[in-house]
Amino acid sequence: MMEYMGVKMLEFPQHGDERGHLVIVEGLKDIPFEIKRVFYIYGSDATVVRGQHANKRSEFVLINVSGQSKVRVRDGKGNEKVFSLSRPHTGVYLPRLIWKDMYDFSEDSVLLCLASEHYDPEEYIRDYGDFVKYIEGMEKNDENISGNTGIL
Ligand code: TYD
Repeated sequence: MMEYMGVKMLEFPQHGDERGHLVIVEGLKDIPFEIKRVFYIYGSDATVVRGQHANKRSEFVLINVSGQSKVRVRDGKGNEKVFSLSRPHTGVYLPRLIWKDMYDFSEDSVLLCLASEHYDPEEYIRDYGDFVKYIEGMEKNDENISGNTGIL
């Protein structure tokens, strides 16, 4: 399975028959969290960049149920990768503390977003510089904790 910064592509089982396709996404079964919130983005086009934030608590799964888009993820330490979404049975899992930009929306793009948390603007980091500082702060904290453990 392709995995990068904890970001990974997910394949959902298809239950299609002659009547059409059916894709099922169950919380804690097909995706690694319970779904508390669903929203979807459509009517964006190739000139638009959405997202442009990181979340302190929310995890997401994004699925282009129609059309296509791209998601660029960044870890705040100089690493980035682009994931393409173009199939209704394929999603991308985004863990917390990942910067994401969604862009290159096709005209028919409907981007379904499943979230692990209810909406709380306080847990959004909307400035990239603040995100980098937040990640640096976390890493310093981790070093201090492991340093202390060493002394004890
Ligand atoms: P925004 O975070 O810019 O959307 P995205 O990053 O997914 O492109 O959200 C646009 C507006 O909608 C903003 O005013 C916040 C509001 N909003 C909610 O009230 N609840 C939600 O669950 C989301 C995702 C956004």
